[in-house]
Amino acid sequence: EQARQIQETLAEFRLSKSQLLEVKKRMRVEIERGLKKDSHQEATSLRCLSQRAQRPFENGDFLALDLGGTNFRVLLVKIRSGKKRSVEMHNKIYAIPIEVMQGTGEELFDHIVHCISDFLDYMGMKSARLPLGFTFSFPCHQTSLDAGILVTWTKGFKATDCEGEDVVELLRDAIKRKEEFELDVVAIVNDTVGTMMTCAYEEPTCEVGLIAGTGSNACYMEEMRNIEIVGGTEGRMCVNMEWGAFGDNGCLDDIRTKYDQAVDENSLNEGKQRYEKMCSGMYLGEIVRQILIDLTKRGFLFRGQISETLKTRGIFETKFLSQIESDRLALLQVRAILQQLGLDSTCDDSIIVKEVCGTVSRRAAQICGAGMAAVVDKIRENRQLEHLDITVGVDGTLYKLHPHFSPIFHQTVKELAPKCDVTFLLSEDGSGKGAALITAVGCRQRELDA
Ligand code: BG6
Ligand code: GLC
Repeated sequence: EQARQIQETLAEFRLSKSQLLEVKKRMRVEIERGLKKDSHQEATSLRCLSQRAQRPFENGDFLALDLGGTNFRVLLVKIRSGKKRSVEMHNKIYAIPIEVMQGTGEELFDHIVHCISDFLDYMGMKSARLPLGFTFSFPCHQTSLDAGILVTWTKGFKATDCEGEDVVELLRDAIKRKEEFELDVVAIVNDTVGTMMTCAYEEPTCEVGLIAGTGSNACYMEEMRNIEIVGGTEGRMCVNMEWGAFGDNGCLDDIRTKYDQAVDENSLNEGKQRYEKMCSGMYLGEIVRQILIDLTKRGFLFRGQISETLKTRGIFETKFLSQIESDRLALLQVRAILQQLGLDSTCDDSIIVKEVCGTVSRRAAQICGAGMAAVVDKIRENRQLEHLDITVGVDGTLYKLHPHFSPIFHQTVKELAPKCDVTFLLSEDGSGKGAALITAVGCRQRELDA
């Protein structure tokens, strides 16, 4: 009886192929809406922000900032083109304390500049006025290559006085306040776009970028004629979909469970990023935790005792879920991990926990795959092809670390977009490199304009 009730609870997370096809279809509808002129009103949940991106030919040294994923990094990227192209990178990871992520905007940008200063000292490059590319992994309205107005914070950030502001200006102001060095901020780039650019540098068929990490998002090359929000009909342009917000208009409500709602209510941005909250690393552990709390309350787990640990937000990080779901681990080791987290489990408990994790991450991989299937099929139809070969550049800890996410994701894309042959390319050096490549183009463009 207990087993049956647990299965009933988990059944809501097990989506059929027709449900997944429905997710794909709705994603397609939202993409179309996002590309329309009036999309920024209310009807749509996708923003489809345009982003400039071109192939680079420039040599030089560039700084890059990478903000918004698991790690905040400052990078020095040396690009050498010509016959033997090469990209050399040096980087340092810096922590951003939670008080800074959720403090004032000024504190956040002062902290960022403090880290840049440390990095320049470390590299011995403080006097060079380097061009900088800023990978800023949040939704921005780009009015030019070097201007991005933050629409809304997502994931774990909530610094005040930034939404509605141009974050490049906020960065420039903070550099001025510091009065220690000068930098030339040339480009602001979303991480999906940086990832796509990095992969496209090696593989020209790469026309889609995907992040399956702390957050979830994708970008792709769309035909200009389809992008109403920007003028022009020739060629293609990169569109940052901000697909994490898919469902914010209620279009996914029929597949959202009460656990998804609880995760949303407990988050920093209630009602927003609903799709992201079902399929990205920052929230999967939270869904698992909500289910475990419920099963414990019903007496099926942990002897019916809800511990303080289980009440703690964010305990199940992606890396723990990945460990728990690893097929190489014996149940005893799963129990050891739970123990490490402060959860006393019996052998039966550990079996249930493992099944809960597996069910939640499978759904995540599947709905993410349904979204990707919509994107590649749209590209195929744009080009009026019966069959499309395409490469997707990917990054993110969920994709890289989780033992089952990527295989299930790949399988789903294949099943839901059978007319597309999709190759997934891991973006090895992250999107900092992509930001540097885009900065190189920006510098070159300026020279041509001058
Ligand atoms: C990194 C990229 O490798 O992956 C970042 O450099 C990106 O720009 C990140 O945001 C996404 O993954 P995660 O899991 O760190 O959020
Ligand atoms: C969030 C951000 C988006 C970013 C994604 C992955 O969804 O809004 O801009 O690309 O996370 O980091």
